[in-house]
Order: sequence, then structure tokens, then C-alpha cells
Amino acid sequence: MILVGITGKSGSGKSYFARKLTESIDKSSVISIDHIFSRLMNNGQVIDRIVAEYGQGILKDGEIDLDVILNNKEIFSKIYTIIENDLESEIARELKEKEQNGEKACIIEWWRLPNTELINQCDCSIYIQANSKERLEFLKNRETYMTQESMAERDNVLGADYASKQYDLVVQNDYNEKSIEEVIHFVKEKIRSKRLLKEQSKKQQSKEITINNAKEVLKKYLTENRKKLYHSIRVAKVAKILAEKNGVPVDEAVIASLLHDIGKTMTPQEMLSFCASREVTMYDFEIFQSPGALHGKVGAILFEEEFDRNSDPEKFDRIQHAISSHVAGADDKMTKLDKIVYVADNIEPEKEKKNDNQETGIQKQTETLLSKIENGEIENLDECIKIIIEGKKQRAKKRGVECNPLVDNILMNDDERGL
Ligand SMILES: [Fe+2]
Ligand SMILES: [Fe+2]
Repeated sequence: MILVGITGKSGSGKSYFARKLTESIDKSSVISIDHIFSRLMNNGQVIDRIVAEYGQGILKDGEIDLDVILNNKEIFSKIYTIIENDLESEIARELKEKEQNGEKACIIEWWRLPNTELINQCDCSIYIQANSKERLEFLKNRETYMTQESMAERDNVLGADYASKQYDLVVQNDYNEKSIEEVIHFVKEKIRSKRLLKEQSKKQQSKEITINNAKEVLKKYLTENRKKLYHSIRVAKVAKILAEKNGVPVDEAVIASLLHDIGKTMTPQEMLSFCASREVTMYDFEIFQSPGALHGKVGAILFEEEFDRNSDPEKFDRIQHAISSHVAGADDKMTKLDKIVYVADNIEPEKEKKNDNQETGIQKQTETLLSKIENGEIENLDECIKIIIEGKKQRAKKRGVECNPLVDNILMNDDERGL
């Protein structure tokens, strides 16, 4: 996502330019920092901090009296120090949300931009200049009492130093289409060149599909989540045994297992927006009951972002499919590799112990699956899968929750079903 910063004095037409940009750029939206500011002025904790600094006199009918703030330079500049952290985290939250929604451009519109660090985060900055007569006309639409003097006073209170920055584009707002077109053209060019740069660096950075690179990627995503990290390693160990027994390339089983849960870095809500923005097929259960079940599909997309498909397209597709289908199968047939990752994920020693705590009749069978496989009592992957699914259903029933209905597809798509 490209970040476009638009700044200019109040009444210069920033929000108008920002709106025009979003109308002409697909998947783009605006963050108006003034709106976030107003929201914060209604936040209880923020109000408490401001009152602690200025006393009850800063309130009017229980709310922050914006007239007092907007007419006192000293108070106004201090307010930004008081709410700095809140403002930063609100902006970061909105940006993250937009990024996850797959937006291409976010236009940040703020008169104070040149005096903050935020301008350095922007991929490009645009300064809208406007002469005072037109600004006054513009402001009078919002605030009828505005005069030339009060506008100058407002500029003084706001105290933004526009001359302190070098902008990528300075536009004289002459209130005609030409200046808008200039801005739109400029931003579209920026998006194009950023995309080209990203593609180039992706080509340079994407990795060959090896176990060592998979370990690197695993660490990148799950170092913070030790439990999941160790789980992934245990799954890889089990998958290695299963791959050897079933004649599947061991490195593929290990790589897919190491990476099967990398999608779990996101919260369920984030998974939902991530998949929605990439037009991933999602089922009702995944959308309404358990968005966390999307972590396989998320992981498969992250795998694509990390590894170079061209280095070995078939291997890439096989591993990606195994990651995507490890939660509850796939729309198409499950391969042996898919089944190995699915089984290994469900019978690695700690998972079996955890399931064991839930004490069901079927559980007894699941708990010994790994040892039965190791000593050759169970050879068939489908046999394991049937027991695993039955165990899942019984545990869900016992907990009074719905079992992911998609698991029934795991064996249904198999050619050998019923034989
Ligand atoms: Fe998983
Ligand atoms: Fe897992």
C-alpha cells in the first residue's frame, strides 16, 4: 500500500483533493487525522488526562471545549503532546486495517503533517497551496464567523511550519480540474513505480524451497509464539516418519509441516479481512463460526509471498496445497503429502496429550495413533484420518460446539473412497 500525505493550511482544499484521489484510484481511502483527533476528544481517558493538565475549566457540558483549545496557541500545541501516543496508535491501527484489506493507496490528510514524523512514513507528500481569499471563502462554508483576521489568528494558533519540509509535489489550488488532474497523475505514477520496485525486490528476495529457508520463514512468523513454533517442529518430525513410510519426498513433508501454521500470526478477524481482500473462497463455517480456521489459507498465501515459485513450480504447488488444506481439507483431492501434514498435525505427541485430557472413547485410539504408525500397526493414512476426524467430532460434541463440517471433504474427494 502506498501512503500519500496531503497537507496545507486549513481551507486549502486538502480533503477535497483527498476525496478526488480516492474516487479515481481503485482500492484507496482517506485517513483524516482531524477526524481521529475529534474522536479522541470524546475518549474518556484522554479527557481525564487533559482535565488533569488544565482543570475542569477545559470542559463544557462534560466535553472538551474545542473553542478554548482552538483559540489558545499554548494549550493547543500542548494537547498534541498529551494525545501523541493515542493518536499514533489510532493511525497505526487504521493503517494496518487498510493494509490487510488489500488497499492500494491510503491518503493521509492533515494540516499538521509537516511538523510530525508521519510525513517521513509517507511514500509521497503533497502540499496544497491556496491564496487567502479563496481559503476564506472555503472556511466560511464551515464556519460562518470566519474573517480575514480570525483566519490569520487560526493559522497562528495551529502554528504549522509548512516551509520546513521539502514536498514531492506542491500544487497551487486554483480550484479547477487541472490541478486535481495533476495530483491524480502524480499519485498514480507513484503507485506504479512502487509496484515495480516491489516486484523487483520480491524477485530478488523470494527464496528457493529448501528446509533451511523454511526454518528461516518459520522463525520469522512464529518466534513470538513459542508454543506454535515447537508444535510446528514436532509436526515436521512426525511428517518425516510418515513421508518415509509412504514414499513421499521427505523434504516436502518437512517444509510443509514447518510452515503449516505460519498463518497463525494473525488474529481471526485479521485472517478474515486478509482472505476477503485476496478473494479467497471462504465457507460459512469459516466466516461466521470460526475465522481462525482460515489460517491454512492465509499460510498458503504467505508461503507464496516468501518463496520463489519459478525455482520449482510443481514442488511449490504441492507444498502450498498441503499448507492450505491442513485445517480441514481442500476443494479438490487431497494428495498423500496433504494427508501426511494433516495427520502429523493431529497426532504430534503434545496434541495427543492435549486431546487425551478430553477423555472420549475414541480418544483412546487417537492417543496411540503415533505409536501404532511407528510400530507398523497402522499403515494407511486414510485409516488415521478417519480416526482423527471421529475424535474431533466427539470432542466438539462434548464441548457443545460445531465441528468444522469441511473435514468431511478430506476423504470424500479421494478416488479410493469406498474401495
Ligand atoms: Fe493449523
Ligand atoms: Fe498445527
